[in-house]
Amino acid sequence: MQVIALISGKGGVGKTTLTANLAVALAQRQARVLVIDLDPQNAQRLHLGMDPDDISGLVREGIHPDSIFDSPFGVHFIPFGQVLPQDLAEFEDELDQQPHWLADRIALLEAAAFDFVLLDTPPGSSVFLQQAMQAAHRALIVLMPDAASYATLAKFLDLVQEYTAQREDFYGADLLINQMPAQNRLGHQVREALYESHGKQLVPVAIHKDARVAEALAFERPVLEYEPGCKTSLDVQYLADWVLDSHQQ
Ligand SMILES: Nc1ncnc2c1ncn2[C@@H]1O[C@H](COP(=O)(O)OP(=O)(O)OP(=O)(O)O)[C@@H](O)[C@H]1O
Ligand SMILES: [Mg+2]
Repeated sequence: MQVIALISGKGGVGKTTLTANLAVALAQRQARVLVIDLDPQNAQRLHLGMDPDDISGLVREGIHPDSIFDSPFGVHFIPFGQVLPQDLAEFEDELDQQPHWLADRIALLEAAAFDFVLLDTPPGSSVFLQQAMQAAHRALIVLMPDAASYATLAKFLDLVQEYTAQREDFYGADLLINQMPAQNRLGHQVREALYESHGKQLVPVAIHKDARVAEALAFERPVLEYEPGCKTSLDVQYLADWVLDSHQQ
Protein backbone atom coordinates (compact mmCIF):
# COMPACT_ATOMS: atom_id res chain seq x y z
CA MET A 1 0.00 0.00 0.00
CA GLN A 2 1.38 3.38 -0.99
CA VAL A 3 0.09 6.60 0.57
CA ILE A 4 0.35 9.70 -1.64
CA ALA A 5 -0.49 13.19 -0.34
CA LEU A 6 -1.54 15.95 -2.72
CA ILE A 7 -0.37 19.16 -1.09
CA SER A 8 0.29 22.82 -1.93
CA GLY A 9 1.49 26.06 -0.40
CA LYS A 10 -1.07 28.10 -2.29
CA GLY A 11 -4.82 27.48 -2.34
CA GLY A 12 -6.97 26.76 -5.36
CA VAL A 13 -4.25 25.10 -7.45
CA GLY A 14 -6.23 21.89 -8.12
CA LYS A 15 -5.42 19.38 -5.34
CA THR A 16 -9.02 18.26 -4.87
CA THR A 17 -9.67 17.98 -8.61
CA LEU A 18 -6.47 16.03 -9.24
CA THR A 19 -6.90 13.75 -6.22
CA ALA A 20 -10.31 12.65 -7.53
CA ASN A 21 -9.15 12.21 -11.11
CA LEU A 22 -5.86 10.48 -10.31
CA ALA A 23 -7.82 8.10 -8.07
CA VAL A 24 -10.26 7.30 -10.89
CA ALA A 25 -7.41 6.79 -13.38
CA LEU A 26 -5.61 4.41 -10.99
CA ALA A 27 -8.86 2.52 -10.36
CA GLN A 28 -9.33 2.19 -14.14
CA ARG A 29 -5.92 0.48 -14.13
CA GLN A 30 -7.28 -2.13 -11.69
CA ALA A 31 -5.68 -0.58 -8.60
CA ARG A 32 -7.67 -0.58 -5.37
CA VAL A 33 -7.77 3.08 -4.35
CA LEU A 34 -8.94 4.89 -1.22
CA VAL A 35 -9.27 8.69 -1.16
CA ILE A 36 -9.26 10.41 2.25
CA ASP A 37 -10.34 14.06 2.40
CA LEU A 38 -8.34 15.83 5.11
CA ASP A 39 -9.69 19.27 4.27
CA PRO A 40 -12.43 20.85 6.44
CA GLN A 41 -13.87 22.39 3.24
CA ASN A 42 -15.21 18.82 2.69
CA ALA A 43 -15.24 19.40 -1.08
CA GLN A 44 -13.90 16.07 -2.34
CA ARG A 45 -17.37 14.49 -1.98
CA LEU A 46 -18.63 16.78 -4.78
CA HIS A 47 -16.13 15.19 -7.17
CA LEU A 48 -16.76 11.62 -6.06
CA GLY A 49 -20.54 11.53 -6.40
CA MET A 50 -21.57 11.52 -2.74
CA ASP A 51 -25.05 12.66 -1.75
CA PRO A 52 -24.63 16.43 -1.02
CA ASP A 53 -26.90 16.10 2.05
CA ASP A 54 -24.71 13.41 3.62
CA ILE A 55 -22.70 15.05 6.41
CA SER A 56 -20.81 11.96 7.61
CA GLY A 57 -17.04 11.78 7.54
CA LEU A 58 -13.81 11.10 9.37
CA VAL A 59 -14.25 13.66 12.15
CA ARG A 60 -17.33 11.87 13.53
CA GLU A 61 -16.99 8.34 12.16
CA GLY A 62 -13.18 8.01 12.22
CA ILE A 63 -11.09 6.12 9.67
CA HIS A 64 -11.98 2.44 9.45
CA PRO A 65 -13.69 0.08 7.01
CA ASP A 66 -17.20 1.12 8.16
CA SER A 67 -16.62 4.78 7.31
CA ILE A 68 -15.65 4.04 3.68
CA PHE A 69 -18.09 5.15 0.98
CA ASP A 70 -17.96 3.35 -2.38
CA SER A 71 -18.12 6.03 -5.07
CA PRO A 72 -19.85 5.25 -8.36
CA PHE A 73 -16.48 5.79 -10.10
CA GLY A 74 -14.67 2.72 -8.75
CA VAL A 75 -12.93 4.61 -5.96
CA HIS A 76 -13.37 4.11 -2.21
CA PHE A 77 -13.67 7.30 -0.24
CA ILE A 78 -13.75 8.76 3.28
CA PRO A 79 -15.00 12.36 3.32
CA PHE A 80 -13.93 14.89 5.94
CA GLY A 81 -17.54 15.40 6.98
CA GLN A 82 -19.49 18.52 7.77
CA VAL A 83 -18.73 19.75 11.27
CA LEU A 84 -19.54 22.70 13.53
CA PRO A 85 -16.68 25.16 14.26
CA GLN A 86 -16.52 23.99 17.89
CA ASP A 87 -16.17 20.32 16.87
CA LEU A 88 -13.54 21.23 14.27
CA ALA A 89 -11.49 23.10 16.88
CA GLU A 90 -11.65 20.07 19.21
CA PHE A 91 -10.64 17.72 16.39
CA GLU A 92 -7.68 19.95 15.50
CA ASP A 93 -6.56 19.92 19.15
CA GLU A 94 -6.80 16.13 19.20
CA LEU A 95 -4.67 15.89 16.05
CA ASP A 96 -2.18 18.31 17.51
CA GLN A 97 -1.76 16.01 20.52
CA GLN A 98 -1.50 12.89 18.32
CA PRO A 99 0.75 13.58 15.31
CA HIS A 100 0.36 9.95 14.14
CA TRP A 101 -3.44 9.79 14.38
CA LEU A 102 -3.83 9.44 10.61
CA ALA A 103 -0.76 7.24 10.04
CA ASP A 104 -1.90 4.80 12.75
CA ARG A 105 -5.42 4.53 11.33
CA ILE A 106 -4.21 4.04 7.77
CA ALA A 107 -1.93 1.25 9.01
CA LEU A 108 -5.02 -0.48 10.48
CA LEU A 109 -6.59 -0.52 7.00
CA GLU A 110 -3.92 -2.94 5.77
CA ALA A 111 -6.43 -5.81 5.68
CA ALA A 112 -8.57 -3.88 3.17
CA ALA A 113 -5.65 -4.34 0.71
CA PHE A 114 -5.64 -0.92 -0.91
CA ASP A 115 -2.88 -0.39 -3.46
CA PHE A 116 -3.04 3.39 -3.06
CA VAL A 117 -4.37 5.79 -0.46
CA LEU A 118 -4.61 9.37 -1.81
CA LEU A 119 -4.80 12.22 0.70
CA ASP A 120 -6.47 15.50 -0.26
CA THR A 121 -5.26 18.33 2.00
CA PRO A 122 -5.98 22.01 2.70
CA PRO A 123 -3.41 24.54 1.39
CA GLY A 124 -0.41 25.74 3.39
CA SER A 125 0.69 24.91 6.88
CA SER A 126 -1.92 23.14 9.02
CA VAL A 127 -2.38 20.31 11.45
CA PHE A 128 -3.85 18.36 8.50
CA LEU A 129 -0.71 18.82 6.39
CA GLN A 130 1.31 17.71 9.40
CA GLN A 131 -0.79 14.54 9.75
CA ALA A 132 -0.54 13.85 6.00
CA MET A 133 3.25 14.20 6.13
CA GLN A 134 3.44 11.58 8.89
CA ALA A 135 1.32 9.13 6.89
CA ALA A 136 2.43 9.61 3.26
CA HIS A 137 5.18 7.69 1.47
CA ARG A 138 5.38 10.40 -1.14
CA ALA A 139 3.84 13.78 -1.91
CA LEU A 140 2.77 15.56 -5.05
CA ILE A 141 3.14 19.31 -4.62
CA VAL A 142 0.57 20.85 -6.96
CA LEU A 143 1.60 24.17 -8.52
CA MET A 144 0.15 26.52 -11.07
CA PRO A 145 2.63 27.84 -13.64
CA ASP A 146 2.45 31.36 -12.27
CA ALA A 147 4.74 33.72 -10.38
CA ALA A 148 2.95 33.24 -7.04
CA SER A 149 3.36 29.45 -7.03
CA TYR A 150 7.00 29.80 -8.06
CA ALA A 151 7.77 32.46 -5.44
CA THR A 152 6.26 30.47 -2.53
CA LEU A 153 7.72 27.08 -3.48
CA ALA A 154 11.04 27.24 -1.58
CA LYS A 155 9.32 28.07 1.70
CA PHE A 156 6.79 25.27 1.23
CA LEU A 157 9.53 22.75 0.39
CA ASP A 158 11.26 23.73 3.65
CA LEU A 159 8.01 23.06 5.53
CA VAL A 160 7.65 19.61 3.94
CA GLN A 161 11.28 18.89 4.79
CA GLU A 162 10.67 19.92 8.40
CA TYR A 163 7.56 17.72 8.73
CA THR A 164 9.22 14.67 7.17
CA ALA A 165 12.75 15.01 8.62
CA GLN A 166 12.29 12.06 11.03
CA ARG A 167 10.54 9.80 8.50
CA GLU A 168 12.40 6.78 7.18
CA ASP A 169 9.72 5.66 4.74
CA PHE A 170 9.03 9.00 3.06
CA TYR A 171 10.46 8.88 -0.45
CA GLY A 172 10.14 12.54 -1.35
CA ALA A 173 7.98 15.21 -2.89
CA ASP A 174 7.51 15.73 -6.63
CA LEU A 175 6.24 18.88 -8.29
CA LEU A 176 3.12 18.64 -10.41
CA ILE A 177 2.12 21.58 -12.61
CA ASN A 178 -1.63 21.97 -13.05
CA GLN A 179 -3.78 24.39 -15.06
CA MET A 180 -1.09 24.71 -17.74
CA PRO A 181 -2.51 27.05 -20.39
CA ALA A 182 -2.14 25.83 -23.97
CA GLN A 183 -0.66 29.13 -25.13
CA ASN A 184 0.76 31.48 -22.55
CA ARG A 185 4.34 32.71 -22.51
CA LEU A 186 4.51 33.25 -18.75
CA GLY A 187 3.23 29.72 -18.11
CA HIS A 188 5.97 28.22 -20.25
CA GLN A 189 8.61 30.49 -18.69
CA VAL A 190 7.63 29.36 -15.19
CA ARG A 191 7.68 25.73 -16.30
CA GLU A 192 11.17 26.20 -17.73
CA ALA A 193 12.36 27.96 -14.58
CA LEU A 194 11.01 25.05 -12.47
CA TYR A 195 12.77 22.60 -14.75
CA GLU A 196 16.06 24.50 -14.29
CA SER A 197 15.75 24.78 -10.52
CA HIS A 198 13.97 21.50 -9.60
CA GLY A 199 14.30 19.33 -12.72
CA LYS A 200 14.64 16.06 -10.82
CA GLN A 201 11.48 16.65 -8.81
CA LEU A 202 9.30 17.79 -11.70
CA VAL A 203 6.67 15.23 -12.77
CA PRO A 204 7.18 14.62 -16.51
CA VAL A 205 3.67 15.76 -17.42
CA ALA A 206 1.98 19.12 -16.84
CA ILE A 207 -1.80 18.94 -16.51
CA HIS A 208 -3.48 21.26 -19.00
CA LYS A 209 -6.10 23.80 -18.07
CA ASP A 210 -9.41 22.85 -19.64
CA ALA A 211 -12.90 24.32 -19.29
CA ARG A 212 -14.33 20.78 -19.08
CA VAL A 213 -12.96 20.49 -15.52
CA ALA A 214 -15.40 23.09 -14.18
CA GLU A 215 -18.23 21.61 -16.27
CA ALA A 216 -17.55 18.16 -14.82
CA LEU A 217 -17.80 19.53 -11.28
CA ALA A 218 -21.15 21.11 -12.11
CA PHE A 219 -22.31 17.57 -12.97
CA GLU A 220 -20.70 16.24 -9.75
CA ARG A 221 -18.33 13.85 -11.49
CA PRO A 222 -14.60 13.63 -12.23
CA VAL A 223 -13.61 15.06 -15.62
CA LEU A 224 -12.14 11.66 -16.48
CA GLU A 225 -15.71 10.31 -16.46
CA TYR A 226 -17.35 13.42 -17.89
CA GLU A 227 -15.01 13.96 -20.86
CA PRO A 228 -12.36 11.21 -21.05
CA GLY A 229 -10.85 12.60 -24.25
CA CYS A 230 -10.25 16.21 -23.12
CA LYS A 231 -6.70 17.49 -22.54
CA THR A 232 -6.88 17.38 -18.75
CA SER A 233 -8.18 13.78 -18.78
CA LEU A 234 -5.42 12.61 -21.14
CA ASP A 235 -2.75 14.27 -18.97
CA VAL A 236 -4.19 12.65 -15.83
CA GLN A 237 -4.04 9.24 -17.57
CA TYR A 238 -0.34 9.86 -18.24
CA LEU A 239 0.11 10.93 -14.61
CA ALA A 240 -1.48 7.68 -13.41
CA ASP A 241 0.89 5.64 -15.61
CA TRP A 242 3.83 7.62 -14.23
CA VAL A 243 2.66 7.03 -10.63
CA LEU A 244 2.38 3.29 -11.31
CA ASP A 245 5.77 3.14 -13.06
CA SER A 246 7.58 5.09 -10.35
CA HIS A 247 5.86 2.98 -7.67
CA GLN A 248 7.21 -0.21 -9.18
CA GLN A 249 10.82 1.02 -9.33
N1 LIG B 1 -6.71 21.30 -15.00
C1 LIG B 1 -7.67 22.20 -14.72
N2 LIG B 1 -8.27 22.89 -15.74
C2 LIG B 1 -9.22 23.81 -15.48
N3 LIG B 1 -9.65 24.14 -14.24
C3 LIG B 1 -9.09 23.49 -13.19
C4 LIG B 1 -8.08 22.49 -13.37
N4 LIG B 1 -7.71 22.03 -12.15
C5 LIG B 1 -8.47 22.70 -11.26
N5 LIG B 1 -9.29 23.59 -11.86
C6 LIG B 1 -10.23 24.52 -11.25
O1 LIG B 1 -9.52 25.28 -10.27
C7 LIG B 1 -10.33 25.53 -9.14
C8 LIG B 1 -9.63 25.04 -7.89
O2 LIG B 1 -9.52 23.61 -7.97
P1 LIG B 1 -9.49 22.72 -6.65
O3 LIG B 1 -10.65 23.01 -5.79
O4 LIG B 1 -9.28 21.32 -7.09
O5 LIG B 1 -8.17 23.28 -5.98
P2 LIG B 1 -7.59 22.98 -4.53
O6 LIG B 1 -6.11 23.07 -4.63
O7 LIG B 1 -8.16 21.73 -4.01
O8 LIG B 1 -8.16 24.21 -3.71
P3 LIG B 1 -8.07 24.42 -2.11
O9 LIG B 1 -6.66 24.86 -1.85
O10 LIG B 1 -9.09 25.47 -1.82
O11 LIG B 1 -8.38 23.08 -1.49
C9 LIG B 1 -11.67 24.84 -9.39
O12 LIG B 1 -12.58 25.79 -9.89
C10 LIG B 1 -11.33 23.80 -10.45
O13 LIG B 1 -12.45 23.51 -11.28
MG1 LIG C 1 -9.12 21.35 -2.20
